[in-house]
Amino acid sequence: MAKVLPSILSADFANLEKDIKEMESYGVDMFHIDVMDGNFVPNISLGFPVIESIRKISKSTFDVHLMIANPEKYVEQFCKIGADMISFHIEATNHADRLIQLIKENGKKAGIVLNPQTPIESIKYLLEKIDYVLIMTVNPGFGGQKFIDSMLEKISELDTIRENMGYEFLIQVDGGINIETAKLCTAIGVDLLVCGSFLFGADNKKEVLEELIK
Ligand code: DX5
Ligand code: ZN
Repeated sequence: MAKVLPSILSADFANLEKDIKEMESYGVDMFHIDVMDGNFVPNISLGFPVIESIRKISKSTFDVHLMIANPEKYVEQFCKIGADMISFHIEATNHADRLIQLIKENGKKAGIVLNPQTPIESIKYLLEKIDYVLIMTVNPGFGGQKFIDSMLEKISELDTIRENMGYEFLIQVDGGINIETAKLCTAIGVDLLVCGSFLFGADNKKEVLEELIK
């Protein structure tokens, strides 16, 4: 069964603790946290102090999605302040293999993210050592965008490689996830569903979560 990771980008930043606790009361134990630098993506979100603060009020797994240039400069600090899983964009670094090693040496799970236009071929030699691959199903930078349908083909391609090679990485999707797109994704091998605006914007979040998990 797929896991749902609420993306706190769509939570109420004046009441993060309340929103996190509410999700946890419905059984959520993993959160997706978007870090944007206004350089790699055209938006700025949150950074170290916010993650440090919410770490104190939650024991859930924190999946930190770095949409930043030069991730190698900051990865260790994200590990230190409470990230459990860290993903970086392959487009943002020339030292992906070293970065994976660094994240793992710090005892955390390492993920690689692909923008919609980036082919799987570009991470072929990293697939055997990675814990998860995040296929962006929108252009990164903003919540509330529409799912890019052609990414389904990319997900299937990745799932086939995983199957044929006996790899163990998980497949995560991020962007435009709702009941319909969640169904399409989980049917073709997705393990981790990131969901922002659809979940936080719902009147009955508990029901939406249950439906997404199903
Ligand atoms: C977009 C972020 C996503 C975002 C998804 O760049 O990486 O995590 O929160 O939001 P929705 O689910 O609204 O598309
Ligand atoms: Zn994200």
